[in-house]
Amino acid sequence: MSFDTEPGPLQPVSRLPSNPDLPDPLETLDGEPVSTPAEWRDRRSELESLFRHYVYGYAPGPEPIEADVDRTESVLGGTATLLEATIRFVDLPDDAPTIELALFVPAGATEVPVFLGLNRAGNHAAIDDDAVTITDRGRRFGADERGAQREYWCVERILERGHGFATYHCADIDPDRDDFTDGIHPYYDAEELPGPPGTEWGTLAAWAWGLERCVDFLRGESTVRSDEIAVIGHSRRGKAALLAGATDERIGLVVPHQSGTGGCALSRDNGQETVAAINGMFPHWFNDVFPAFGNREPRLPIDQHLLIALVAPRPLLDTEGARDYWANPGRAFDAIQAAAPVYDLLGAEGIVGSGRLSDGDELTAETVGTLCQYRRETTHTLNRGYWDAILEFADLHFDQGV
Ligand code: GCU
Repeated sequence: MSFDTEPGPLQPVSRLPSNPDLPDPLETLDGEPVSTPAEWRDRRSELESLFRHYVYGYAPGPEPIEADVDRTESVLGGTATLLEATIRFVDLPDDAPTIELALFVPAGATEVPVFLGLNRAGNHAAIDDDAVTITDRGRRFGADERGAQREYWCVERILERGHGFATYHCADIDPDRDDFTDGIHPYYDAEELPGPPGTEWGTLAAWAWGLERCVDFLRGESTVRSDEIAVIGHSRRGKAALLAGATDERIGLVVPHQSGTGGCALSRDNGQETVAAINGMFPHWFNDVFPAFGNREPRLPIDQHLLIALVAPRPLLDTEGARDYWANPGRAFDAIQAAAPVYDLLGAEGIVGSGRLSDGDELTAETVGTLCQYRRETTHTLNRGYWDAILEFADLHFDQGV
């Protein structure tokens, strides 16, 4: 997890060797082979440091939390119970941000698997029901209408299938602006973070840290199966969901949806959003070192297949739109294939068959391994068709089923 990561003796970008090929997951930075699960643990720590140092930035440790929970029965026509938790960081000043987490569970549920989704439009946009609080940040940075993202999150469908759904509004932690004045960042001095100057956390690392704090809460919640918490996010939030899933091993399953560059898509040979383009448009998403790899991607000592490999042996479904060209599903699939040796090393059945399914294909134990790409004929969106596949995938992998 992020707090275990210590910065190693890492080279400045100009001194890194240029390597057009993808770094081998099973070879350390010093060229030593990694051939046992025990050796993978060390490689894992090395990779996490490399991603923190060169790409996303070092995040603080797991800040202690305290939560006030409001419970509302009979939500969504009596089918659901809503728990709204205000997650406070007890050691931070009183004016520090809080995470407002909404958790929906099927009515009468005792212990269910939960999808934790990072939302961009406010919790009130997930369902059309007055029971959901419109938070202060939801009002300022979210959608005008309740239920605006109803067909995107498909909460009713998730609950019908026996899962819970939890969500927090990314603006609670950082409103995705490039000045870092209106979120969690000002509450940590650069000197408190483990890395050298320039390696401090960007927005994606902060959102991922927020997801980890939600996991802290959810694991103590009696209606949640603590080892069956899945994270999902779309696009920039898919990048954050992947980062959280990679670094926090308590997360049981990861769905980076159309996550693109900085997510599942490789940085090398990416003919869509390049490293230079993403840092040019969104300089605050990463640390201040990553831009140096613009047009110098072969110097990256990592690439995104290694972030996927950090999820191993836990299940990962990379959901992509066949017509979502900017997110580059092709380079995401290459990343999945390049991560597979780590799943094999850890004894998980990673890729089964081609490792790639499309709408119309059935997801069964015979067609799907722990690592899979699933494509639908869409552009950049999330909808019921994706959710049906995602829920199938979760049911195949979560031990107890639902
Ligand atoms: C932009 C950006 C992508 C990102 C997307 C989104 O298109 O270039 O990297 O995934 O926004 O978050 O919707």
